[in-house]
Amino acid sequence: MGADTAKSQMALPRIGVHLLGELGGEADTCLQGLLSQGFTADRAALPAEEAATAEKQDILAVTGRYRPELHTPTHLSRLVGAQRDRTILFLSHMDPESFALFEQAGFSFINVTTDQTVKSLVGLIAQVDPNAVYQASKTAAMRASMSTEIANTVVDLFSRLRADPVAPKLAESHQQRRAMSALIGQSPMSVWIELIQNYHDGTAQHCSLVSGYTLAFARVLGAGNQQTGRLFDAAFFHDVGKAMIPLEILDKPGRLDPAEWEIMQRHVLHSHDILIRDEHTCGEIARVARDHHEYLDGSGYPNGITAPQIDDITRIITICDIFAALTEKRAYKPAKPFDEAYSILKSMAGTKLDPDLVRLFEKVAAECDGRLGRAATAA
Ligand SMILES: [Fe+2]
Ligand SMILES: [Fe+2]
Repeated sequence: MGADTAKSQMALPRIGVHLLGELGGEADTCLQGLLSQGFTADRAALPAEEAATAEKQDILAVTGRYRPELHTPTHLSRLVGAQRDRTILFLSHMDPESFALFEQAGFSFINVTTDQTVKSLVGLIAQVDPNAVYQASKTAAMRASMSTEIANTVVDLFSRLRADPVAPKLAESHQQRRAMSALIGQSPMSVWIELIQNYHDGTAQHCSLVSGYTLAFARVLGAGNQQTGRLFDAAFFHDVGKAMIPLEILDKPGRLDPAEWEIMQRHVLHSHDILIRDEHTCGEIARVARDHHEYLDGSGYPNGITAPQIDDITRIITICDIFAALTEKRAYKPAKPFDEAYSILKSMAGTKLDPDLVRLFEKVAAECDGRLGRAATAA
């Protein structure tokens, strides 16, 4: 490809893919597949009045089982308007007569298949506009390289802390925190969780996952930039003290005995000690790290403090921390599904966790599941 062509493709406006289909059907599966492959995509439920969010460069795809009462040439023509030549009819079980009627109505990308895979949809998108696939592949490649870079540096931070808790300058990871925040910001939660699950070091993976949930929660809570930054930092560093816990305990495939559990609990004090002496992190982060296993009813550790002594930022990190612990894979346990993990949070609301915050967290849990179908923003 010549430099001029590459330049002109770089300047192209971002092409979105709008899926029109029934809730919980093939459209949802296709949406998750497209988002994970770097497409900017969303889904609207049929019957819709208009494909209101579509820009002129966007591509529309009607998915699901063909239903004669819903997928009429008249209705779909009105719905997609002038974008008929950028509309894919990706429907199963359509009879040849109906197929002919759509052709007569000017639809040229019609695919009738009972096997509605993301792969075949991407093939159709490539026929409508190869640039959409080109843009998606660039986004996916960028995410993968950012993810690898962040993973390496976060794992490195923990290895260095393990070797010498005094030597590493935590402020050096400031850039990584910013990069991670950008990565999470431009990926849907479900995609980003997949990236993080490729991390090798359990604690680095966990701190990254808690940071992601915290960022999503900050968005739901309407936190401003400064507040979001404070929350993100508190999440990113909350378990740094685990670098001081022997790996045999951290990675033990099974329940810890009382002596091991006592050692494990010390990680909050190690975190506090590391963070409090770092000139670039403020006392708040150290305090959150110390208190993130405390519960409102006083049943937590290390000090058994109760509701009046537990501030909002700590309550937020505690919720994100528990949700991460439940939904991450470990050598000794599989990841719990998001809805099951949220039910566990709900069972702790009021006694151990802040009930209002747990209620608001439902949006984050739903977003992780892809149930909200939040569109990915352009890279
Ligand atoms: Fe912890
Ligand atoms: Fe944690």
